[in-house]
Amino acid sequence: MNQVLGVIGSPISHSLSPVMHEAAYEELQLNCSYHAFHVESTQLKSAVEGVRSLGLKGINVTIPHKVDVIQYLDHIDPLAEEIGAVNTIVNDQGVLKGYNTDGDGYVYALLQRIGKTLHDKRILIVGAGGAAKGVALCLSKYGVKKMTITNRTSSKAEDLAVICSQYSDTDYLSLGMAQAELAKFDIMINTTSIGMAPNFDQMPLSLENLRKGAFVSDLIYNPYKTKLLIEAENKGSGIMNGVDMFVHQGALAFKKWFNKEAPVQIMKNSVIKHLGGSI
Ligand code: ATR
Repeated sequence: MNQVLGVIGSPISHSLSPVMHEAAYEELQLNCSYHAFHVESTQLKSAVEGVRSLGLKGINVTIPHKVDVIQYLDHIDPLAEEIGAVNTIVNDQGVLKGYNTDGDGYVYALLQRIGKTLHDKRILIVGAGGAAKGVALCLSKYGVKKMTITNRTSSKAEDLAVICSQYSDTDYLSLGMAQAELAKFDIMINTTSIGMAPNFDQMPLSLENLRKGAFVSDLIYNPYKTKLLIEAENKGSGIMNGVDMFVHQGALAFKKWFNKEAPVQIMKNSVIKHLGGSI
């Protein structure tokens, strides 16, 4: 019997998850289909009940439901609980289990791209919202040399730094100070929406003081290369856009549903083809 999976969110029509997951099913000849479901907040509870009653194998959860969905699930994985958000639900014979694969997806993506350990890296995280929390928490749990969080609203950077400092040496800086002290960092990660289409000319901070050889990553993939990444590349930095994190969070979700490794490169190719880029 065909097994149904999907993603719920609002808006959802531009989600690349169906393209990516169906590429994996085709590659592995799985008799499954993956659909994008537009779900408004008022319908979230009944949508989650629908996963159970209709027997969907699992779903991804995206904006704006990652936090609110938790109350409707039967079991929350400890990491998702700590992050406070769920992006993957497994329907285990009617028991709905919530996970978060975003942060670990990012760490996997970064490790693949850097090609070596992150234990000796000093990392600057720009932003302290939901995306930043998953990324910062998973990087600090992995164990980095030093992490600094900067954010427009400093109190949120401080709160996140306190959480992360349980696992790795973490502090926070104002945006102005982070910009001034940029040369201290080996890796900079933009987790904010600054530079996302249609605001192509915006950057979260100036790269004037970027250290030679530093690596710059942006969670945004629309545009494919943000102004931040273009400027970093022009300075000779290695760069990574949001495609790698997107693909790896999807691959980790796939593994939770099917208990087997996902065809990561096939998934990535399908996303890149759809976006019409290369990086
Ligand atoms: P997400 O789930 O995508 O992380 P979020 O939780 O709303 O979304 O967080 C958005 C992040 O981008 C925050 O760090 C936010 O800064 P504030 O905490 O000060 O709001 C940051 N952000 C968004 N737009 C910004 C802007 N124009 N300038 C500076 N920071 C911005």
